Amino acid sequence: MGKEIENENWVNKVRAEENRQKDRLNSCPFRMKYHIMPPVGWLNDPNGLCQFQGTYQAYFQYSPLSVNGGGGFWGHCTSQDLLHWQYQDPVLTTDRPEDRSGVYSGSALIEDGTMYLFYTGNVKLPGDYDYIDEGRISSQLMVSSKDGQHMSEKTVLLGMKDYPEDMTAHIRDPKVWKDQGHYYMILGARKRDFDGDRRRDTGCALVYVSDDKKQWKLDHEILPKENFGYMWECPDLFELDGEKILSYCPQGLPAEPERCQNLYQSGYSILTNGETPEKTFREWDLGFDFYAPQTFEDENGRRILIGWAGVPDTIETHRNLSVQNGWQHCLTIPRELHTENGAVYQRPVCEIDTLSWKQEEGTHCSFEREMVKIETTLQDGIPAEIRIGTEENGLMIHMEADRIQMTFLNKKGEPSACGGGRAIRIGRTASEIRHAFVLIDNSIAEIFVNDGEVVMTTRIYLEEPERMITVNGCRTCEIWKTEE
Ligand code: FRU
Repeated sequence: MGKEIENENWVNKVRAEENRQKDRLNSCPFRMKYHIMPPVGWLNDPNGLCQFQGTYQAYFQYSPLSVNGGGGFWGHCTSQDLLHWQYQDPVLTTDRPEDRSGVYSGSALIEDGTMYLFYTGNVKLPGDYDYIDEGRISSQLMVSSKDGQHMSEKTVLLGMKDYPEDMTAHIRDPKVWKDQGHYYMILGARKRDFDGDRRRDTGCALVYVSDDKKQWKLDHEILPKENFGYMWECPDLFELDGEKILSYCPQGLPAEPERCQNLYQSGYSILTNGETPEKTFREWDLGFDFYAPQTFEDENGRRILIGWAGVPDTIETHRNLSVQNGWQHCLTIPRELHTENGAVYQRPVCEIDTLSWKQEEGTHCSFEREMVKIETTLQDGIPAEIRIGTEENGLMIHMEADRIQMTFLNKKGEPSACGGGRAIRIGRTASEIRHAFVLIDNSIAEIFVNDGEVVMTTRIYLEEPERMITVNGCRTCEIWKTEE
């Protein structure tokens, strides 16, 4: 009884804050129609993605009480079509000694009509610690649920004594799956390492195995041969069209002119041929806003990826204009994955075709709060441009040969306010760009080049009167808006 009252209290507190700010958020011009957002406050990683008893479930790192993050909860929303989301009560909070500083990211496993959620309990001890080797405790926990909403008591599965000795205390983000009667859990980790006298930690992943979901032992480590980032977050290991794919977020890769342009990276490696991960690494998304994706297999066997359309620690470089309206960040549109030509292609799930679309005439139009899609084909050797916004304040997408560039600069070469402080991102396709598909949902644009070979995601903060689309130089161009 005592426990239930406690639960109701924190759920009520979150719900009260969501209700208190509801009108303010609803009137914000940057709210989206078909993307997962925090009902109030801050959101980061997608967690526990699954389809359970026919319904899609998305949980997310949620800070309803602070627009600048800090965590505290797993938020929850459900959907029948991956586009219309209903927001439910949050399902987890920091109420155990092992998770008192954070209910960090994790995943779902569905088995015999029960959902199991695995996540990291984070503890930061007060004091003067480095929080790498000392002052941090990372535990892996599990809860189960019959309805995706009400959770069992928490069980602690792994603690600091269970990790290899050469690991730092940064071990988190369990992704769990079942294979041939065994359960596997992959964890992101930071191995203590030195380059001579200088500290140079190595990002890696740990794979644990279990026969009952409760007792886990280390099966193997996934280590790069060469140092490849100092920490790997949010790992995910799955089969796709017969290939073995490792998805992960290696933090600390050096920026290059056309690669790793964001502060933290997120990508995948194809491990099928036994290569170490760094050999085949590719970024998932070359836009400004993408990190910490998670995949799941739905009841139709589709492998679907949802990412966080944000990057951690960008408070200095990204003025997210929705903050003044009490919220920030969103997740990407769910994307179906396939391998093609040795790469993973991402396309928006086919459910977007079930929305009611109306085609605009010509290659120029304005829009308000509808979702918009732009579908273009290119002519050999002729540059093409798609502008979202006005000449004074907009995003320019320039495509030429194998190069695509997104620029938040206006015609005078000054930064466009709608970029929130960002300027240029560049992507390359393996051969010529033939096709580009752009999806715009109020304050997010997602660009899929050559049917998902290269994807670029960015937030864009246009006021409603500035919402214009202009396409030039394409062979064909169709612009559609949702009617709902
Ligand atoms: C990635 C991440 C995860 C962690 C979570 C905490 O963005 O740092 O590694 O579990 O966010 O919110």
